[in-house]
Amino acid sequence: MADNGHGAQPRVWLETYGCQMNIADSQLVTAVLRRAGYAVAARPEEADVILLNTCAIREHAEERVLGRLGDLARLKHARPQVKLGLLGCMAQHNRAALIEKAPWLDLVAGPDTYRRLPELLGNSGFDPAVDVRLNRAETYGDISPEYESGVRAYVTAMRGCDKFCAFCVVPYVRGRERSVPPADIIREIRELASRGVKEVVLLGQTVNAYRCGDAGFGELLRMVAAVDGIERIRFTSPHPSDMSQRVIDAMASEPKVQPYLHLPVQSGSDRMLAAMERGYTTEEYLDLVARLRAAIPHLALSTDIIVGFHGEEDDDFRATVELMRTVGYDSAFTFKYSVREHTRAHRLGDTVSEAEKARRLNEVIALQEGISLERNRAIAGREFPVLVEGPARRGTGMLAGKTPQFKTAVFPARDGIAPGATVNVRVESATAHSLVCALA
Ligand code: 5AD
Ligand code: SF4
Repeated sequence: MADNGHGAQPRVWLETYGCQMNIADSQLVTAVLRRAGYAVAARPEEADVILLNTCAIREHAEERVLGRLGDLARLKHARPQVKLGLLGCMAQHNRAALIEKAPWLDLVAGPDTYRRLPELLGNSGFDPAVDVRLNRAETYGDISPEYESGVRAYVTAMRGCDKFCAFCVVPYVRGRERSVPPADIIREIRELASRGVKEVVLLGQTVNAYRCGDAGFGELLRMVAAVDGIERIRFTSPHPSDMSQRVIDAMASEPKVQPYLHLPVQSGSDRMLAAMERGYTTEEYLDLVARLRAAIPHLALSTDIIVGFHGEEDDDFRATVELMRTVGYDSAFTFKYSVREHTRAHRLGDTVSEAEKARRLNEVIALQEGISLERNRAIAGREFPVLVEGPARRGTGMLAGKTPQFKTAVFPARDGIAPGATVNVRVESATAHSLVCALA
């Protein structure tokens, strides 16, 4: 059992950066450490172990973590016995540079080494304990992550990525694609349902590439839909090339699978899509969107867009703007291209200036704000079932939850309406990011 040197239970503080996969991984890490005798600290100042679970997707993400590491170094200076560790994608991405920049780190552990954390933390040598081996068999399927309470829970269905898009570091830091066995996923979800979770979000870097024996992602959706107590199923992120008819059919025929899809397009230029090695053309993507919309009524769509990729000319960018208008996404996550070491596009470097990237980014953000607002206003007067999550962030006496389309709805609280309930609301007014509703 772990011990903090004074015979008491050691306490760990864990901060999470980046995507939902990292949030899910942090819950796994917490479970691993609890099993080994650690407790969760209420504040970093009272922790014996401080861990940062990090993201390497863009340079900005790494800079944030390096800044935070600087703050924590001061804390460690005051209390040298505190162990400071870095987990996740950044640990995997740049361990050597990292240890050089932050020599006070005690631990550097990549995403496939979390089972070993108690052992790595037990290392009392002078050098940091480092384990960044990737393991194509590791799914952590047997470990139940520690869930925070709430009506929604994230469940890892697959790990890693085999797509190797030219701009993306994920396949290098998270390793090869592997799926969690269905039995493990279903056991996990049953447990969640018994604790009052109503909605599960299946996670994977290319979640619809899920495959375990005979079961593809469509089959997995149907198995999850058969779990009593689970009312809503979502998943993120699917890859357009893996959006098979079986998956579309499962979405269309299983009422629990919600009519919302995050379908990253990245660019509206075929030249850029080819350079990015995305594996589809705009025509194929638009055809997929049309088939999805035909099969799933009132489907909401969101996407990821990268502006300023290597070689992106004004014409390419205009094609992206055009595609965004054509599809009419409900929302979009937009990014300036960030050159990442190890990727295929790394050696090509940057051709678009920072100022031009910023200009293009601002344009797509403004465009999407307008489209989102228009789409949200267009549903004024309509009714939706909303899964209640809790008090709205703004507005006292208001509750918030999501519509099936994953839009945030706020509405007046009323006695007897508690988190986990589903209520019908009518949309009264809308902003680009939320719906103001009345109880229907
Ligand atoms: N630069 C900018 N954005 C990136 N993404 C992935 N890699 C990069 C990069 N090097 C974006 C993609 C992806 C999302 C998770 O992050 O749009 O879909
Ligand atoms: Fe990165 Fe492409 Fe894999 Fe998505 S599909 S994680 S963008 S390599």
